[in-house]
Amino acid sequence: MKNETASAVRLADYRPPEYRIDTITLTIALDPTETRVSAEMAIRRNSGTPRNAPLRLDGDELSLQSVKVDGKRLSEDAYHATPDLLTITAPPDGAFTLTVETLIDPTANTQLMGLYRSSGNYCTQCEAEGFRRITYFLDRPDVLAVYTTRIEAKKDDAPILLANGNLTDSGDLPDGRHYAVWNDPFPKPSYLFAMVAGSLGVVEDTFTTQSGRKVDLKIYVEPGKEPRCAYAMDALKRSMAWDEEAFGREYDLDIFMIVAVSDFNMGAMENKGLNVFNDRYILADPQTATDQDYANIEAVIAHEYFHNWTGNRITCRDWFQLCLKEGLTVFRDQEFSSDQRSRAVKRISDVRLLKSHQFAEDAGPLAHPVRPNTYKEINNFYTATVYEKGAELIRMLKTVLGPEGFRAGMDRYFERHDGQAVTVEDFLAAFADATGTDLSQFMLWYEQAGTPALAVTSAFDAAGEKLTLTFEQSCPPTPGQPVKKPMHIPVRFGLVGPDGQDLSYAAVSGATVSGDTIHVVDERHKVTFSGVKALPVPSLLRGFSAPVKLVGGLTAADLTFLAGHDGDPFNRWQAIQNLAMGLLTEATAAAHAGKPTPTDDAFLEAMGAIAGDDGLDPAFRALALQLPGETDIARDIGEDVDPDAVATARTALRAAIGTALGDTFGALYDGLADSGPYSPDAAAAGRRALRNVALDYLLAAGGAAAEARTRDHYLAADNMTDRLAAMTSLVNASAPAAAEALADFHDRFAGDPLVIDKWFAVQAAAPFAETLSKVEELTGHPAFSWSNPNRVRSLIGVFATGNPTQFNRADGAGFEFVAEAVLRLDRSNPQVAARLLSAFRSWRALEPERRERAEAALRQVAATTPLSADVQDIVSRSLD
Ligand code: ARG
Ligand code: ZN
Repeated sequence: MKNETASAVRLADYRPPEYRIDTITLTIALDPTETRVSAEMAIRRNSGTPRNAPLRLDGDELSLQSVKVDGKRLSEDAYHATPDLLTITAPPDGAFTLTVETLIDPTANTQLMGLYRSSGNYCTQCEAEGFRRITYFLDRPDVLAVYTTRIEAKKDDAPILLANGNLTDSGDLPDGRHYAVWNDPFPKPSYLFAMVAGSLGVVEDTFTTQSGRKVDLKIYVEPGKEPRCAYAMDALKRSMAWDEEAFGREYDLDIFMIVAVSDFNMGAMENKGLNVFNDRYILADPQTATDQDYANIEAVIAHEYFHNWTGNRITCRDWFQLCLKEGLTVFRDQEFSSDQRSRAVKRISDVRLLKSHQFAEDAGPLAHPVRPNTYKEINNFYTATVYEKGAELIRMLKTVLGPEGFRAGMDRYFERHDGQAVTVEDFLAAFADATGTDLSQFMLWYEQAGTPALAVTSAFDAAGEKLTLTFEQSCPPTPGQPVKKPMHIPVRFGLVGPDGQDLSYAAVSGATVSGDTIHVVDERHKVTFSGVKALPVPSLLRGFSAPVKLVGGLTAADLTFLAGHDGDPFNRWQAIQNLAMGLLTEATAAAHAGKPTPTDDAFLEAMGAIAGDDGLDPAFRALALQLPGETDIARDIGEDVDPDAVATARTALRAAIGTALGDTFGALYDGLADSGPYSPDAAAAGRRALRNVALDYLLAAGGAAAEARTRDHYLAADNMTDRLAAMTSLVNASAPAAAEALADFHDRFAGDPLVIDKWFAVQAAAPFAETLSKVEELTGHPAFSWSNPNRVRSLIGVFATGNPTQFNRADGAGFEFVAEAVLRLDRSNPQVAARLLSAFRSWRALEPERRERAEAALRQVAATTPLSADVQDIVSRSLD
């Protein structure tokens, strides 16, 4: 491995490419260890490039076999080749053809970038910089070429040969080999190239687009797994219809293919016409997939499909603009899921994810702007900030411009930039131009890292019927950005009157209010509503209209009122969460001091009101009844965190809720028993979620009856959602039946890796001192493999990010274990290693003893040689 102290790439240094590559014809002769790749490229000098300027093509671990210009072999002095760079010293002045032959070893490719093998098949992953591991190329997103791909392979080994675009030719070759030729007419950047070959089963369907074109849909999986693709196919067809309706976007090729593979670094990849997926986002049936799995499949299928317009037809000029395609496409998939399911429930789930992942990232050493201005390793920037906060910026843009303005801007963007590689500035300009809005202050959201705090105070003048809200915004320093400018924060709101209805008002002064949105643009911004007839409780940031930390001067009584009455379901949920958080931080301090943890009757009553309100959507109730997670509590506390005290406080409150509301939960459990066959639809999933929450609270309250009930629930389950929920509850409650459930689960699903991943994850997340040695032992389980990213994430990743008390063990053994795992993984798969290492991102917020141990583990990683550029980058930023 190269020990690269990679040099930083800077946005400010961007220059257009010196050469253009208009077409590339690839011939890939597949062989497990010696795959021969010939690339014939039509190249021309870009305007502004001096004549005969050297042509530098990116490579990565390539072995050059030959190089020709216009069909003639180049002499040794006319080029220079290393595994990562091919320089043609003085290319011809006019357009020319460059033919490069390389030799690669797919079997040795454990990084899972470029061309590699998975379960005996061949597949590729080229984003961000994997194409250079296949051939020398201008491997940057602003070089758009038309690709023709000829694949040759042994017919027995690889009966299926796939690449981007349309199949134009295929046939037999001597010696039991065959070939297929694919052509993709849409110019694309190299990161969207894909090819797949092997023995695969297929599920087929068709979709007719709004203009009446028939598109063939194919999902390829390992043979035998075809019956588990039905939901993915259904989600794909719904995605295609939705993009036409919601954004006017129609699919453009005659065929759309998805391939599911079991070894994949990330979730999925939007290669033009040939999406490649981590199989966990394709395969589902009631016995093996949870409701959450179904929802994830729907979202990821939609996400990758939507990239066809936001990412592929219009792509990024450079990797700093990653959010241009990712934030926008996440926003689109979130909107899709909202339309398919419950909007309020989807919003609450998304915000929970945003806060637990992105707010945590923003609060630590790995904080970076949605559009970073420098990076050492781009693979480390596929982050919650780029994806999730990026999506929030699009949502805010829609709030600021209104739905019509937003749609007009999107239309302008598609019209103006189809076929181009563009920037965030280009994107915002389309909206500014389409709506006549100045978005220069809005641009700061892309440039400034950190989660802004928005402090609010309110004053009511009853005689004058005036309500004044004073907002103060601030944004903490983040790496490289000590001082921030005030941003445009759209605050959706309502003034909730005593009867729970929003009060009307006669006039506004001080800040712009449009519709239900207050536009806070100054550091200190006052807004006065007149004609307010009664003292309202302000419900602010409805729907979480901006990714900020609202510090609102609401009393517990106000929050309890909003929890019961706010017309905005998101803020009802938020109010309950705020109440719980107040209680939990107080209880954590008590637990840390060795004192009994307090409870609060008003809070228990508020929870009871929600649990017992049959007028509320069960899915909403299930979410509202769940306390903030331990990591969220830790983040709220912010410094000197004692994770054991957090867990003690949370466990005590859960027991108190379970005890106080036992009857309600018992009635819910009995009343929600679902008869009839399993369906993954949102309503049925919501009922299961609420029933499982009730069951878990009953078990938290303790007692043999609750335990027997949970055990029965496990055994009687006819679907994975219920079975896994019961097993998780038993394990976390340390119930005697836990061992039996774990053993049964293992035997029932042995041989099904995606399900055994759940079995690994439940054990890795168990909050007990024995867990670390259990996890160590499980690394030797026959189903575990260090080379499969899903296995690593389920066991080691869940331990590091889903088990706060054990990862953060006071003796430092959790940190040491994860650091060693990182170093081990770094030798084979740096991307997965670096991702795991980012579990340390909140180490500075720990209490001093744990902080010291976490730092020691990080220093040990930093001192190791060699280290990949990926891990080197994360560890050095973490310690900065
Ligand atoms: N573009 C993909 C998606 O979000 C993610 C690919 C990430 N790959 C990587 N090597 N970082 O849909
Ligand atoms: Zn994406």
